[in-house]
Amino acid sequence: MAESNYLVTGAAGFIGSHLVEALLARGGRVVGLDNLDDFYAPAIKRRNVESAIASDRFRMVEGDIRDTALVEDILRSGRIGTVFHLAARAGVRPSVENPFLYQSVNVEGTLSVLEAMRKAEVKRLLFASSSSVYGDSSNPPFRETDMVDSPISPYAATKKAGEMLCHAYHHLHGMDMAILRFFTAYGPRQRPEMAIHKFTRIIADGGEIPMFGDGSTARDYTYIEDIIQGMLSIESNLHGYHILNLGESDTTTLSEMIGMIGAALGREPRIRRLPAQQGDATITRADITAARALGYRPSTPIAEGIRKFVAWYHAQQVEAN
Ligand SMILES: NC(=O)c1ccc[n+]([C@@H]2O[C@H](COP(=O)([O-])OP(=O)(O)OC[C@H]3O[C@@H](n4cnc5c(N)ncnc54)[C@H](O)[C@@H]3O)[C@@H](O)[C@H]2O)c1
Repeated sequence: MAESNYLVTGAAGFIGSHLVEALLARGGRVVGLDNLDDFYAPAIKRRNVESAIASDRFRMVEGDIRDTALVEDILRSGRIGTVFHLAARAGVRPSVENPFLYQSVNVEGTLSVLEAMRKAEVKRLLFASSSSVYGDSSNPPFRETDMVDSPISPYAATKKAGEMLCHAYHHLHGMDMAILRFFTAYGPRQRPEMAIHKFTRIIADGGEIPMFGDGSTARDYTYIEDIIQGMLSIESNLHGYHILNLGESDTTTLSEMIGMIGAALGREPRIRRLPAQQGDATITRADITAARALGYRPSTPIAEGIRKFVAWYHAQQVEAN
């Protein structure tokens, strides 16, 4: 059935590769589209999809989401029923340095996927947005009904623009859509520049952690298995247009997070204090009532998730040596 044929854009990335595996495990047929961009090493991304590629229900296409004809061809030839659109330039700080690239991939890229869907008459989309759209003006816990008109980075602005394009296509073409606002995902395969991964590497190597601010900035960290469980249940229950926070609805300070990594590694972290970074939110915390109504059930406390991440990190190191 077309409904169990999926397109995952950004399939070779951190979240995308876990999603592909989960969709295959559910019995689906999946096409992955990814241009293996250089935001971090393409070799890591190739490894991310190694096990999926062994499945005859998975096809990997190396290409760019901005190539609308390519996306349309994939949708038609794969008889795709649902698109998970995850491909993007991620990361707040690099978007300050490179705003045109972020706008091109995240805004035009999203428009390209939507146009291809319109042409191929594909009617279901789950779009990876971000907690960063809340900026610094909401009071936690953040609710989907909060005003999100004041982004504080180009990245956040591009995600908000993507959400608005999705809404326009839902309105005009009757597509079922879930706008998923991810709250700092972590777990095995997390992007190497993200804090939990980076700090684990630094502490394991005996280096000093560059800590921006006084350690009091706080995040709702969401374990990857919880995010995937949420995406699958939302996909199964999707009708109409929804904006949904995917977080744990818990908050951990930067200092606490560093302490937990140190404890999991059995090492005392060494810290170098640096000024707070522009573009970073002070705190994030999700109200997840709306996602819960569609079956989302996050269940991983941060300390447990960090232990699992560190175990994966060690296993990777052993494999590499
Ligand atoms: N990881 C998080 O904590 C987090 C939080 C909020 C939102 N998000 C969003 O979730 C999505 C996935 O994030 P991730 O952490 O897995 O990032 P990632 O960088 O690991 O994955 C993104 C993938 O998209 C691919 N890509 C980039 N530009 C492309 C293009 N033009 N055409 C085709 N493929 C392209 C990249 O090669 C990469 O494999 C992104 O949209 C990101 O903005 C992630």
